[in-house]
Amino acid sequence: MTAETILAADEPRIDLFDGPRQELRTLFEEAEDSAAQLDGYIKEGRVLVARVGTEIAGHLQVVDTGRPGEAELKNMAVHPRYQRLGIGRALIDALVNLLAAERVTTLLVATATAGIDNLRFYQRCGFRLRSIERDAFTAATGYPPGILIDGIELRDRVWLDRELPTL
Ligand SMILES: CC(C)(COP(=O)(O)OP(=O)(O)OC[C@H]1O[C@@H](n2cnc3c(N)ncnc32)[C@H](O)[C@@H]1OP(=O)(O)O)[C@@H](O)C(=O)NCCC(=O)NCCS
Repeated sequence: MTAETILAADEPRIDLFDGPRQELRTLFEEAEDSAAQLDGYIKEGRVLVARVGTEIAGHLQVVDTGRPGEAELKNMAVHPRYQRLGIGRALIDALVNLLAAERVTTLLVATATAGIDNLRFYQRCGFRLRSIERDAFTAATGYPPGILIDGIELRDRVWLDRELPTL
């Protein structure tokens, strides 16, 4: 059965994950090229998961920034088999609803400038470009040299943000 057929029969259900984070490590790794960085933050914050049947098809992790009214989307991924079917957007929508109810007004996310597909995804989900951090992904910060994304060297980080509705 294809992922599309499964999804047509069984809408993804999104809820807070309360199991051990290591169970989601493979999904986290889809979005993080540095094992050292991932070790440092995998247990932080809260995680939403999208379940299809008994399978976890995608996740996102949200953490506090330490600044009032602000949160950061730290890591997210949809299993390759379930990508481009609306699950990523559904996870973001669920997060926006959760945070807006908590009076959070700004949601930040950072990604590689090289990740053209991700830049499209986040902008289609309502995020706008905010700032660039040059040389954020280096050996000193735990990223092996020579990683190419869409043929572009992994080097600079771009921050995006989305203003959240006030309820
Ligand atoms: C980025 C990611 C989470 C998107 O999840 P998804 O479930 O595939 O996304 P959706 O189906 O909800 O797509 C929402 C919108 O983004 C667009 N989009 C999603 N993936 C895209 C891609 N690879 N290239 C271009 N556009 C893309 C969709 O076309 C859709 O736009 P539309 O309304 O114009 O059709 C998923 O591709 C992924 O897990 N990637 C690998 C891990 C990763 O890079 N995570 C982000 C790290 S910063």
